[in-house]
Order: sequence, then C-alpha cells, then structure tokens
Amino acid sequence: MKFLNIIVAATMLATLLGSCSKDVIVGESMIIPAPQKIETKAGTYILDNALSIGISDKTLEPAALFLQSLIEKSTGIVAPITDKGAIMLTVDASKAQTEAYTLNVTDKGIEIVGGGYGGVLYGIESLRQLMPKEIEAANGAANNLLAIQHVSIEDAPRFKWRGFMLDVSRHFYNPQEVKQFIDMMAYYKLNKFHWHLTDDQGWRIEIKQYPLLTEKGAWRKFNSQDRECQSRAALEENKDYEIDTTKMSIMDTDTLYGGFYTQDEIRDIVAYAKNLNIDVIPEIDMPGHFLSGVENYDGVACSDETGWGALFSSPVCPGKDTALEFCKNIYNEIFELFPYEYAHLGADEVDKANWIKCKDCQSRMRKHGLKNEHELQAWFVKYMEKHFNANGKKLIGWDEIIEGGLSETATIMWWRNWAPKAIPTATAQGNQVISSPCFTLYFDAQQNKNSLKNVYEYEPILKGLSDEQIKLFLGVQANLWCEWIPSMERAEYMAFPRMLALAELGWADPDKKDWTNFVERVVANMQKLDVMGINYRPLDLTGFNSTNTFTAPDSLTIACAQKDISVYYTTDGTTPTTASTKYTTPIKVDKTTDFILRTFRPNGTAADIVKTKVVIEDYAPALKNVEIKGEGLVAKWYNYKGTKCAEITTAKFKKEFIVDSVCIPKGAKDNIGLVIEGYFEAPKSDVYTFKLQSDDGSMLYMNDQEVVNNDGAHALREVVGQKALAKGLHKIRVEFFDHNGGKLKLTVADQKGTTIEYPNEKYGFKY
Ligand code: ACM
Ligand code: ZN
Repeated sequence: MKFLNIIVAATMLATLLGSCSKDVIVGESMIIPAPQKIETKAGTYILDNALSIGISDKTLEPAALFLQSLIEKSTGIVAPITDKGAIMLTVDASKAQTEAYTLNVTDKGIEIVGGGYGGVLYGIESLRQLMPKEIEAANGAANNLLAIQHVSIEDAPRFKWRGFMLDVSRHFYNPQEVKQFIDMMAYYKLNKFHWHLTDDQGWRIEIKQYPLLTEKGAWRKFNSQDRECQSRAALEENKDYEIDTTKMSIMDTDTLYGGFYTQDEIRDIVAYAKNLNIDVIPEIDMPGHFLSGVENYDGVACSDETGWGALFSSPVCPGKDTALEFCKNIYNEIFELFPYEYAHLGADEVDKANWIKCKDCQSRMRKHGLKNEHELQAWFVKYMEKHFNANGKKLIGWDEIIEGGLSETATIMWWRNWAPKAIPTATAQGNQVISSPCFTLYFDAQQNKNSLKNVYEYEPILKGLSDEQIKLFLGVQANLWCEWIPSMERAEYMAFPRMLALAELGWADPDKKDWTNFVERVVANMQKLDVMGINYRPLDLTGFNSTNTFTAPDSLTIACAQKDISVYYTTDGTTPTTASTKYTTPIKVDKTTDFILRTFRPNGTAADIVKTKVVIEDYAPALKNVEIKGEGLVAKWYNYKGTKCAEITTAKFKKEFIVDSVCIPKGAKDNIGLVIEGYFEAPKSDVYTFKLQSDDGSMLYMNDQEVVNNDGAHALREVVGQKALAKGLHKIRVEFFDHNGGKLKLTVADQKGTTIEYPNEKYGFKY
C-alpha cells in the first residue's frame, strides 16, 4: 500500500506548466481508515491552476466548497465550481450505502462517486489524505506543486455508527474548538458527534424557557478538579493542564469559570457538522448528573436538600409532575435544535437514595406497581422515551437503562465493561446497541503503550450473538470525559492518535486489520497532524522496560517508530525540558539510576514524562531452608472495591485458592482483590524479565522488592520489569484488583528472551 514520497525536481515539468522553480511533491497512500479496496497505479495527477471542481447536483455544493477551500488555503489555487470539473463529484444513489464511494485518480482527472452526500465527502477526505502533507498548511505549499498518485479506491464503512463523544461540562470548549473536533472526526470518517452538553459541573446549552440553567449552571468557582488540573500543570510542568483564562469571567467580584452555547451557536455548529456528514447527538443527562436543573428550579428534585450523595448528585424526582414537565420542556427545545433521528437521555449513574425517602416517588411507584427504585428509573426513561417518540426522535441511553426493565425500542450505549451482559440482553430483546466500553474506548483514560493497540484490536461484535442480534449492532464510539482535560491541547493529546484507531475500528474490515501497516500509516498521519497543529501523543519510546536490570555496567537504549521526535532526559528527578540532556546514543549506566524521559514533537511541544529505572545489582541470593508444601501459588481473594493494590488486604477476606500460575482463580468474581504468594524457582542465575499484564491494576514484588508497578484502574496494560536472581527459590508476590471481569497474566523470560511458560513441570511456582 505504501509507495515513496517522491520529490521530483521537475524542472522540465515545471517549465511545461509555466512555473520555473516549483517542485512536484507526491502524496503517499497512507489513508486512515484503510479503504476496503485500493489500487495504486503508475502516474500522478498534479494540482495546478487549471483545476476545477464539478458537481452533479446542487446538494453537493457544500462538499465542493469544502474541497475548494482546502486547496485554496494551502496552494492558493482557486478551483471554480462548475457542473463538469477536473475533479468531478457525483452521487450514484444505486450504491448500497450512502457513505460508500469510489475514487479514481487518472491522467484525465479525479472522479469521486458517492452513494450519497456522505460518500462524496468521504471520497474528498480520502483524496485529501492522498495528497502530500502540505495540503494541510495554511500557506505551506505555495512553493510546490502538489500531486496525487494515480489510484482507484472502492470503499464503504463497516458500521453505521462511528461516534466520538465530547464532554463539555467538566470543562467548556468554545464553538471554534468544537468545530476543530468535528473537522478531525470528518477527516477520519467518523459520523456521530455525541455532545455531552450538561452534567453536574456545568450546563452548556441555552434553554430559553429556563435561563437559570446557564445563568447559574454554566459558571462555577474553581472546583477540586480544576485545582487538581492546576496542580498537575505545575507538578508535571505541563501547561496543557492549565485552566484557560479566556473561559473565566468576573461576576459580582467572583472569578467564575465556564461558558455555554447560545442556541444560535448550536445551530451554527449543527449546520457546520452537517456539511461534514456528521450528525450531532445531544445528550442532556437525566435523571442524574443534573445539578443545574435540580438546584435552580423548584419542583424538580425530591426535596430542597440537593447536592452530592454517596457517589452521585441528587437526581430529578420522577414522582413529581412538575419535574417531568421540566424535563420534557427542556427536550422540546433540544428537538428543535438537533434535526436528527437520535437524542441521548443519558440516564447513567443515578443515586436513588432520595427516591427511597421521597413520598412523591413512593406514591408514583405504588401507582404504577413498581417494585423498586430501579423500576422507577426505568419508568422515567420510558416516560421520556414516549416524549422523544412523539417528537419523531429515537432515544439512546447509557446501558443502565436496562436495569429495572428496558423499553422495547430504546438504543443502549454500552459503557460498563463490568456489565458485559448488556449487549446480549438488549439485542436478544431486539434493541439496538452501540459499543463504547470503558476503558478501551474511554479516551480520558491515560494512554500507554497498549492503549492504541487496545482500540485497534477491539472487536465489538461479541462471540455468540446470532445474526439477528448482530444486525442490531449500530457501531462503536469513543468518549472523552473531561474532568482532567481543561484545554484543547490536552483534549487532543488524549484523543490522538487513538481517534485514528477508532476510525479504523469503525470503518475497516476486521479480517484485513494489520497492526504493523496501521502503525506505519499512523506515523505518516502524525506528520499531517503536525502541519495541522494537532497536539497528539507521540508514539511510545521503546527498547527499555519500566525497570531494566544488569549485573554489570551497561547502557540504556531508546528508540521510537516516529523518527522526527526528540527525547530529552534527566536523572535528578526533575522534569526534562529542551534544556535537559538530549538522547542521541545509548546512555552508559554504571550505577542504579532513575531516568525521566520526555518526548518532544517536531514543533517542540512536550509529551507526558516516562519514568524508567536502570538497576545494576548482583543476583539476589536464593532463599535457603524453605519449606515447600506443593506446586503452585496461594491466591487470597478479598472483597475489594477500591483501585489501589496496597489497600487490598484491608478489605474483607473471602477465599483461598491454589493456582498453578499468576491468574484470576476460577470462582473469584465481582469485587476482586487478590494477593498471590509463593516462590519462583529460578532455573539458573540470570536476569529475569517479568511481564505483568492486567485489567485493572497489579503489582509484582520479588523478595519483597517492587519489580513491576501496574497499579491503578485501567484497561488491559502490560508493564515489564526485570530482576537479577540467583539459581533457586525466590519469594514472589502479585497483587491485583478488578471489579468487572478483568485479566491477569504474568510471563517470565530469561536473559536470552526464552519465555518460561506456566504451569511448567521443570520449574515454576511453589508454595
Ligand atoms: C458514563 O461513563 N457515566 C457513561
Ligand atoms: Zn422524589
């Protein structure tokens, strides 16, 4: 698929074209998401002043204007829009999908045929990705001629729903910033922008009937999350965590932080997205996550005592007619603003404690024969769904809407990976589903060396679903919750490059997935993101572990698949800057040293720090006089609900198992806190590499010393540490927690890289 980026010093060609000193730069075929079929051919098509854009009908004008503006901004070429152009855009409604398209680049010109507007737009986005990166510059290519390799593409998406959710409540993103996200979604052929417009920390959309929702609810004094962001900005020397001063306002002598969209701004963004084939799916989260509603208007909450419960805020009171009217009136304005098939009710994470105490809620339950508060929540969702349907809208809710009885027609958005039955249950009942599991598709989860691959390799169609159930599968979505994301720079850092993997997940044929080829395309794409000014997370540094152990002086080698980055490092605990030491060749290390590494993108902006330790030590002596009871390890299961390995043993002990490897014992489930202990028998004196994979957190200690720290709540992640061990027995302790059907695996390799598999007859674990 790849061919070289050719820079032809095309004096002859340039003379022919009448411009004496321009080079011709040919783009690479590095499209993300990968097209279903692509065939490159000899020859190139050069964008020159004779360029024109033809459209088969007037409805394609916005797509043509988009292409015209793209070319004009970077090259200065103004391609007139006519009915027959060198680039011809056509709709062929006989194509099976409106988003399908063909793209042919030949000597004669460029032909894009879409099944509908979306297909044409996607043909343009593919064409754009076939152009050299200079097409993304505001004025970058003025000195060069841009060319496209002759190519024939036939393409269509795998899923109808290729979504991305932005939470604008925890931090506000202004209309320009939202459009930037929409641009990038379209670039990668994502088509549903789920806009999480309201939550406890900020109400972001003007509702004319209830102005206090924004007058009061769009602004706040700094909360603990804002303070944490400021503190990270200082601690990590990362300005991307700083609170944006342009979103602060002085009101009655208080500095308040926030913002909201007027309805005109919403309409403008919706129209903007439409031209980019993106449906905007509004979410006004209720009955929970609704503080501005319950705090600023009477008759919405169960009582005047609103605020925070054990985990979540006080919800709407479904027992009061005034509250139901309030909710419906809000949605009436929403339906007017968002002319789409779907709207999202939220309905996640509801604290139902108030409902138990509330006489209105209890009376509603009696009246409708509802057995418990889950059924009351389901009643509320169904009540709202009727209102949605009466207004021509379909309802989507987070998968909690299954609890207490799912309506026959609502679509669920599955996020709770600890509730995996949601998809089989909903589809068995005939409901549509969208898959957006935490943490794999939660882009607010910190990226690590596994996160991009986790997204790329995620397969949303679960095994065991019938064909009928699979048909109900609308697609996939990633969510960017913004508690710890106070700036556009940070938002981009979290979303990219994962959005590229999401795009491929939503579009490409799973049988044709090729991780190595994908990474090559990601690297090429990053050069374009650089030109666009998008703040992505650079690819991981490789060549070392989280601890690297040697028994004599050695060196630390650092590599990166992305060649245009720079790495700076410190060994004194300070955060590296471009004034620190730059990595150029392997670093010689003659004593145990803690390194902090930091990658800098070509434009000089920094990634998050990476810590690694080089340990120079003798082989740890084997333990003597150990009394062995048997083969295997002792696994103790505690009823642990937290997210820190060190706290596991403070929870209630449940059961003991003997396991033959580091794993989750059969029989341990739900709130799992595990402490697995015993001895590891080193077959020879050597440096051993321990790869600890877990979802969620885990820790490995050898002889009571930390070797791998893979702690904290996270998706499947592998952390690798090393330890020099003398031949014989060594104490091993693994701690692990998970609450939602996680994974735990340890592999051990000797210095030659030979992996020792467990269970193993020759040597292994003893207790
Ligand atoms: C969610 O993450 N509460 C949908
Ligand atoms: Zn109530």
